[in-house]
Amino acid sequence: MSQRIPSSLNWAVAGAEIALEAGALLRSLFERGVVTEYKGDVDLVTEADRASEKLIVERISARFPSHGIFGEEGSRHGLESEYRWYVDPLDGTTNFAHSFPVFCVSMGLEHRPPGLSADADGELIAGIVYDPTRDELFAAQKGEGAWMNGRSIHASRTEHLAEALLATGFPSRKRHSSPNVHFYQEFTLRSHGVRRAGSAALDLAYTACGRIDGFWEFNLNPWDTAAGALLVMEAGGRITGFDGSPFRLNSREVLATNAHLNGELVRLFEDMFAGRSLSPIPTPAEYAATRAQRQS
Ligand code: IPD
Ligand code: CA
Ligand code: CA
Repeated sequence: MSQRIPSSLNWAVAGAEIALEAGALLRSLFERGVVTEYKGDVDLVTEADRASEKLIVERISARFPSHGIFGEEGSRHGLESEYRWYVDPLDGTTNFAHSFPVFCVSMGLEHRPPGLSADADGELIAGIVYDPTRDELFAAQKGEGAWMNGRSIHASRTEHLAEALLATGFPSRKRHSSPNVHFYQEFTLRSHGVRRAGSAALDLAYTACGRIDGFWEFNLNPWDTAAGALLVMEAGGRITGFDGSPFRLNSREVLATNAHLNGELVRLFEDMFAGRSLSPIPTPAEYAATRAQRQS
């Protein structure tokens, strides 16, 4: 561990030890293969999601018995505690279920000072994202920077959307009410491209280390974003709502960028929500008609 995170980052080190163990469990289940079940529509869950959350909850409870836990697979313990872990035991379940090797463990730690009202955010103090297939450990601690496998990481320096590589994701619930494909189209036409790799926590970690310049998604949950949000902030990036408002754990709409791109992307969101700025592209029928003409 000492090679991966400076030992002075006590919270990040403690979380990372647990995330590494959970990641090793995911790796072995990935190699063996697991049965997939449906939580709804195309929202999948596997034995690996549950086993990983069980392990993480056991380890946090043993090490920090007074800490609260808010986990995707249903863990709700000690939510009145001063410290609360947001746990996504397997971010990228659809990938995992299809043997597509892009998934991670995500753990974010919030400090909630006594007296804070239930609906207010505390302060994110540690964030860990572990990708077991690449053995990449991303970790951040408030005020101490962000790290990946022992080196300090920083968001990119790209200044304009036209030179940016972006990422997004699409919901697995209520898919027909998401407008994101319109944003996918427009951002694709205005940038170097938009990746949709299937793990929001890794998208945020990649924004933090400069592999991508920005990421947005509708309808995320605190277990998807808590760790990655701190990684982005500690790496010198920005994380806001689509309107530039400050990030909150319950913000469903999340826009993460390097230090330069937030304003340009916020303006484009504003334009698009106002019905402006959608570049025309041919419909499939229009394209087919032009192709038929070319061939005749
Ligand atoms: C999902 C992934 C995906 C994102 C979805 C999330 P899960 O999390 O992060 O990239 O597009 O919105 O729900 O279900 O694999 O933990
Ligand atoms: Ca998730
Ligand atoms: Ca998950």
